[in-house]
Amino acid sequence: MSHAVVIGGAGFIGSWVVKELLEQKYERVTVIDNLLSSERWNIPTDPRVEFILGSASDSNTLLRVKGKVESVFHLACFHGNQSSIANPLMDLENNLKPTLTVLDWVEKTHPNARVVYTGAGCAVAPKTWDTPTGVPEVDETPILHDSPYSISKITGEMYAKYFADRRGLDVVRVRFQNAYGPGEILGAGQWRGTEHTIWRNVVPTFIWKALHGQELVLHGDGEASRDFVYVKDLARGVLAASIKGKSGEVYNLASGQETTIKQLSQIILNFTTSASQIRLTERRDWDHSGRRFGDPRKSQNELGFVTEVALPQGIESTVNWARENLTRIAATMARHG
Ligand SMILES: NC(=O)c1ccc[n+]([C@@H]2O[C@H](COP(=O)([O-])OP(=O)(O)OC[C@H]3O[C@@H](n4cnc5c(N)ncnc54)[C@H](O)[C@@H]3O)[C@@H](O)[C@H]2O)c1
Repeated sequence: MSHAVVIGGAGFIGSWVVKELLEQKYERVTVIDNLLSSERWNIPTDPRVEFILGSASDSNTLLRVKGKVESVFHLACFHGNQSSIANPLMDLENNLKPTLTVLDWVEKTHPNARVVYTGAGCAVAPKTWDTPTGVPEVDETPILHDSPYSISKITGEMYAKYFADRRGLDVVRVRFQNAYGPGEILGAGQWRGTEHTIWRNVVPTFIWKALHGQELVLHGDGEASRDFVYVKDLARGVLAASIKGKSGEVYNLASGQETTIKQLSQIILNFTTSASQIRLTERRDWDHSGRRFGDPRKSQNELGFVTEVALPQGIESTVNWARENLTRIAATMARHG
């Protein structure tokens, strides 16, 4: 009986991990989510999926999981950098505390389960505007971080490694770069008091604005760069890590491709056939991540993971999904007033 628990499984990437588990014929998938930054309709509908509404920072929520558990995928977070800057205590409650609560619960109730913790590449990437090299899987981090989100993500990795190396729990870590794809719903979840709750990440924001003829605002000269990875590729990588990853180790789920925000905006304008204008504005004062991308070699060699969806292809399917779901997305955005 294969039973996986996906914490944060209603979220953008978590829901794709659920889909991947179902495709891989898991017999039971239990989703735990408090719907803070997600919508119930994003959870795949399937008789094998059970949904538990509640916070993973409360051990009573986790204790509602019934039966033997083989794998735990932890994807809950307080989304994302800017919301965490606005509310560091909410970040602690919904980003770092769930991580420790989940590890403690697994150790006490499912000690033989494999845990996959999802880290963030931004927390370890050097802050540079010079020509970057792919960031490898370093286990070093500066004391000074750009946001409480980044602190929670890297501290979560420290707990994951501690539980693996010092307490014998079977925990593997993956590091995401910049995920994009269908299912990232603008305005999803409950209001948390900043405009960034609506706009989330650059890809869904630019697609929405391009489809509505609104200007695309690029911070700085648009030369900041990221490593964009299509969400289905990420979900495949998460499962590969759960099967082939070594406990205590960390794996980049990266494409190794650097794309500037200016290049990204052009791709989006092409696929939306939009006449939206691009406007340059000042750099974001909190964001010191200039140019970065991940080094994919370790996950290629040890997990057999390579990204399959090229950026233009992935943007095309994300634009198609956005077009098909415009009414639903408008409704989630409108809830924020
Ligand atoms: N999206 C990216 O580009 C990116 C990059 C690096 C790392 N990550 C990591 O990937 C994971 C998934 O991110 P995402 O983009 O899908 O975000 P998301 O906001 O769509 O998903 C997070 C989910 O966690 C849920 N959640 C929040 N607090 C919770 C709590 N206390 N208990 C239970 N559930 C809770 C939210 O409701 C949401 O469904 C996160 O751990 C995030 O830090 C994402």
